[in-house]
Amino acid sequence: MSEYYWDNKIEYLRNTRGLYYNDDYLEFLVKSVWKIVKPVNIIDYGCGFGYLGLKLLPLLPEGSTYTGIDKGNELINTAREVFQNQPYPSEFFISDIEEVTIDRKYDIAICHAFLLHMTDSKKILQKMIDCVLDDGMVICFEPHWIANMSNYGFDELEQSQVIKLGILQKLYEGDFNRKGKDGNIGIKLPIYLSQLGLKNVECRVSDKVNFLDQNMNLLSKQSLFNSLREEGLGELPGEIEEFIHNLVNRGLMLNEAMEQYEAELLFSKEFADHSYLTYAPNMKITFGNVKR
Ligand SMILES: C[S@@+](CC[C@H](N)C(=O)[O-])C[C@H]1O[C@@H](n2cnc3c(N)ncnc32)[C@H](O)[C@@H]1O
Repeated sequence: MSEYYWDNKIEYLRNTRGLYYNDDYLEFLVKSVWKIVKPVNIIDYGCGFGYLGLKLLPLLPEGSTYTGIDKGNELINTAREVFQNQPYPSEFFISDIEEVTIDRKYDIAICHAFLLHMTDSKKILQKMIDCVLDDGMVICFEPHWIANMSNYGFDELEQSQVIKLGILQKLYEGDFNRKGKDGNIGIKLPIYLSQLGLKNVECRVSDKVNFLDQNMNLLSKQSLFNSLREEGLGELPGEIEEFIHNLVNRGLMLNEAMEQYEAELLFSKEFADHSYLTYAPNMKITFGNVKR
């Protein structure tokens, strides 16, 4: 077993990516928004097992290529296996993106749920820009956690009982201020990309609203429920003392940490495969053109 955290999260990645976008929306982005009509060479920063490549390559003009770069050995080995059976030219590199220099030879640099893990995201964005040819694009699919947390609907539960928006906002902002990693980076990327010199910067919101419907067929319901669980919905908060200690260390007052514990405990008790639930992850998709 690898010691690298993300190498042990392949199943989580496989089971949760489907929560974010409908395929028709990705097609709409490629064909109607980005209007990609000629083959492109794409590089995916923090590609994991190649999820975004698997989604985008079938939508891109024939002849397009996909390059994935990630720190995880297991992830890259899995990506190589997955793409071996695909008709798309692809190559994968195991590298620490914070250390590596990437040649300027790509038409599009993309990332998905990656920049939020970077302590200096502007530096990484500059690397993404630098590896793109003139008139190319940078496209970032990144989360906006507080918007995500606002986007739950429950049957027979008030949202405020289980989602403490003020407390969560304080936690996310505190984590960013202490560590530089920003779970809300999605909503800030239009500003960063414009400040870094990109032109025609725009931002879209992911379209998918997951609906755990008690009237849907059993297999689909079980599969969606499992994905939502894997995403962390209704996860047990764990041992109380450790939980409180952790949140107080992250800047909460004792009473806020307690309130958060109770909210998570209630959510874990109430959320089951017989629940009705709606959930929109609210990813932000930001893109712009490189003009030198
Ligand atoms: C949340 S996962 C997203 C993976 C993939 N983009 C997806 O959405 O399925 C974050 C990814 O960033 C990668 N990563 C984090 N820091 C990295 C670094 N310094 N260099 C290369 N990859 C890194 C991790 O290995 C992991 O695969």
